[in-house]
Amino acid sequence: MKENKHIQRESQQSTKIFDDRSLTNDYRNLSSILKPGMKVLDVGCGTGAISKDIANIVGENGKVTGIDNTEGFILSGKESYQNITNLELIHVDLFDFNPEEKFDLIVSARVLQWLSNPKEALLKM
Ligand SMILES: C[S@@+](CC[C@H](N)C(=O)[O-])C[C@H]1O[C@@H](n2cnc3c(N)ncnc32)[C@H](O)[C@@H]1O
Repeated sequence: MKENKHIQRESQQSTKIFDDRSLTNDYRNLSSILKPGMKVLDVGCGTGAISKDIANIVGENGKVTGIDNTEGFILSGKESYQNITNLELIHVDLFDFNPEEKFDLIVSARVLQWLSNPKEALLKM
């Protein structure tokens, strides 16, 4: 039990930096191009904190799909934002993601600079 609490605290600490992100503070230029009804893909969404803010703007006629290849981030985001019905968070690597649906906009914050193959990632998007 004590150990479980320790693990929980550790995992909360490791997601905190991503949980604290917001569209207003951490993706400022994006707001001006978002419109209600848009379908948006957020690549490398972390725990989905920014994706959730985008979902609020695109509204119920729009949708945000956030993908991330770190399972713990996606599990955490699914729990935190389970009430946001137009937000879908998927644990998958960008290079394995082959959606049927089309998106109006693909966004990605603070991801490309961490990849060894950013050009391939851009081409995939
Ligand atoms: C620095 S974090 C940025 C998270 C979020 N976009 C933000 O601004 O808070 C980079 C994220 O990209 C994810 N990532 C890295 N390579 C990826 C890949 N090939 N496919 C999907 N996600 C990836 C990592 O797991 C991590 O959550």
